[in-house]
Amino acid sequence: MTDPILYLCSKRRIGAGSCAGSGSLELAAALKAEIAKRDLTWDVRLSPCLGYCGEGPNLKAAPDGPMLHGCADAGAVLDRLQRDWRRK
Ligand code: FES
Repeated sequence: MTDPILYLCSKRRIGAGSCAGSGSLELAAALKAEIAKRDLTWDVRLSPCLGYCGEGPNLKAAPDGPMLHGCADAGAVLDRLQRDWRRK
């Protein structure tokens, strides 16, 4: 089974809602720390715009995972993904 990859939008748009403007870069660091703490083999990668700019930070889980909007808390994001998508 392929290890999960969390693609986190890192786009910053001046004068409009955007993921970086909503804290996605800080969230990426928090997700990496939380993944290590949980001893998961998941990866976090920054992505270009995912097309939901006003709802960020946005995250797409792969392979075949959900798109999450308004991701603010790393622990809550991982709790949800582990509960609803992948357990390891
Ligand atoms: S800026 Fe993140 S989805 Fe467009």
